[in-house]
Amino acid sequence: MGIKDYLRGKVGDEDLNRVVRGFEMIGDVVIVNIPDEIIHLKDLIVEAILRNHKVKTILRKVGEVSGEFRIASYEVLYGGETETVAKEFGCRFLVDPTKVYYSSRLSSERGRIARMVGEGERVLVMFAGVGPYAILIAKLSKPREVVGVELNPKAAEYFRINVRMNKVEGIVKVYEGDVRDVVPRLEGRFDRIVMPAPYSAREFVHLVRDKIEKGGYVHYYTFAGEEEDLPREIVKLFKRHGMIVNVLNVRECGSFAPRVYRYVLDLKVVDFV
Ligand SMILES: C[S@@+](CC[C@H](N)C(=O)[O-])C[C@H]1O[C@@H](n2cnc3c(N)ncnc32)[C@H](O)[C@@H]1O
Repeated sequence: MGIKDYLRGKVGDEDLNRVVRGFEMIGDVVIVNIPDEIIHLKDLIVEAILRNHKVKTILRKVGEVSGEFRIASYEVLYGGETETVAKEFGCRFLVDPTKVYYSSRLSSERGRIARMVGEGERVLVMFAGVGPYAILIAKLSKPREVVGVELNPKAAEYFRINVRMNKVEGIVKVYEGDVRDVVPRLEGRFDRIVMPAPYSAREFVHLVRDKIEKGGYVHYYTFAGEEEDLPREIVKLFKRHGMIVNVLNVRECGSFAPRVYRYVLDLKVVDFV
């Protein structure tokens, strides 16, 4: 039974219409959106969640994802312990959503990328967070090496723990720091680069030029409105930074705000200029 079904008959129609249908579960921590106008329903909403799910903590999102570390702010509605283990495709990720970025909603997109990786590839994951892309790639495919770079020290700490927890120490290397400093110092080139920083990826495209193999792939995430001609824009952006890319695929993978969506473009770098 969903939250709305549980509340039906207990609250008025106007309030019921304002209740947000879904919520996010990260391990046994739940994140729910409750608009201010129906905050008086919070105990009933907590009851509704607890009836159907074994959870230790319920958080209400009170501030949007923001800042360099991409963390939202939360109010505790139930419980209090916020560190938890999220599961994706048989991998386990220790994470505290109040201290690091992690979204279970992107799991299927991460699985899609992980399965595209060919045997023996060397992969770079910029903005690696607690490691879900890097670790899934190592587990679901057969890369030679996966390098992940993350700025938030707490996320990098979880990333290192998660590498051990998922037994991919031989494949995944964790670098803590700013991609602007770390990436130029990495040796050699990569067959594939993942750029999961949709709010600011364009600021980092110049780092790709000297690190991608000719014929390599880039997975470029960005927020955009429906009306934008993304393929054209992104081809121009990469060209400005010395790369000729073919757009293989454009895919919507989540929303950000009304009529603003998260897109991923799968690019092939066919030449350099
Ligand atoms: C949207 S999150 C994605 C995290 C992870 N890839 C995932 O899917 O869960 C972006 C991450 O990039 C990190 N970040 C932001 N600026 C960075 C930079 N200049 N260098 C390295 N990491 C950065 C943030 O701390 C955050 O963890």
